[in-house]
Amino acid sequence: MSNKIFIIALVVALAATFINTYLKNKGEMRYVFHTEWYDPVSATVKKFLLSFFPKDKSVEMYDLRAKRLFLKRLPVDGVEEKDLYLSNTIVILSRQLKITDYADATTREQISSKRQRPLLDYITSGPVVALELITADAVKRWRKTLGPTDSNIARLDAPETLRAKFGKDKQSNAAHGSDSEISATREIEFFFPSSKMNDVLVPQTTARLANNTCCIIKPHAVAAGKMGSILKAIKDEGYDISALQMFRMDKVQAEEFLEVYKGVVSEYPGMVQQLLSGPAVALEITSIHGTETPLKFREFVGPADPAVARELRPHSLRAWFGEDKVKNAVHCSDLPDDGPLEVEYFFKILQ
Ligand SMILES: *[C@@H]1O[C@H](CO)[C@@H](O)[C@H](O)[C@H]1NC(C)=O
Repeated sequence: MSNKIFIIALVVALAATFINTYLKNKGEMRYVFHTEWYDPVSATVKKFLLSFFPKDKSVEMYDLRAKRLFLKRLPVDGVEEKDLYLSNTIVILSRQLKITDYADATTREQISSKRQRPLLDYITSGPVVALELITADAVKRWRKTLGPTDSNIARLDAPETLRAKFGKDKQSNAAHGSDSEISATREIEFFFPSSKMNDVLVPQTTARLANNTCCIIKPHAVAAGKMGSILKAIKDEGYDISALQMFRMDKVQAEEFLEVYKGVVSEYPGMVQQLLSGPAVALEITSIHGTETPLKFREFVGPADPAVARELRPHSLRAWFGEDKVKNAVHCSDLPDDGPLEVEYFFKILQ
């Protein structure tokens, strides 16, 4: 940037800040943006300072090259405060203006914090599922898998991406991805704190801890990539997955958890071994069946032996996803009274 342009830019920025402070003190708020308009006649890009007055939705344009007022303050149709954000294009008097930057600190603060607040409302509108994903170059690869932020653009430019397939628009875009390794570290620490000292900041569990039962997707099924299909089968059967958490159990925990089977079923040692062989996923299951949920869900899980399940209860999780009596895809609370206790174990005690 040449000195001259720099000084002009500085003067413009100072003037904009000054005017804003002045108007704010007078009680009138204005937002000021740098905008660009492609003039087809001269085939050049013209730059304007655009002021927007929220009070009466009027605008004013200042031509930066000619250094003169281009459009005197005038109410316009179709431009709302929500349209004013970086890289958006707005139409004023049939001209397509692209917003390229904030022209002063007040506008930057006000607009960027507003843009975050819709996002915040959205992200707090219901339960979310946080995942830590691990692979080489994870941040970049996951962003590529997600595709462009705006699902509508993703459907045009990258139809194979997750946002193209599962998102709706720029805000409801199915999934979030950290934008850098620093953000990833911070976000993972937020959801999965390495020390309990951060407890107060950990988002609340969605577990309802009533009229529920516990389902555990066993390590072999997780490792075989069956988790998604199992979750979908459970949803399709009409159950709510009201809490979900991935765990790695140690031997003491696995033995304690499966204690009721000790000396009762011959597979007990194998069951313990299976449970500690890798990450498992614990689910809290709730449903419209209320107090009947544990019994109904138990039926849907099917007999412990998948071979038997395929004979007697072909419409069951173990018939579909189980391999043998130990690798039978899911564990489920056997007695209705155990369901809530097992859920508490995973979603309260182990937390
Ligand atoms: C449990 O379900 C029963 C219906 O089966 C219902 O009356 C009761 O209010 C539910 N309890 C809770 C805590 O949701």
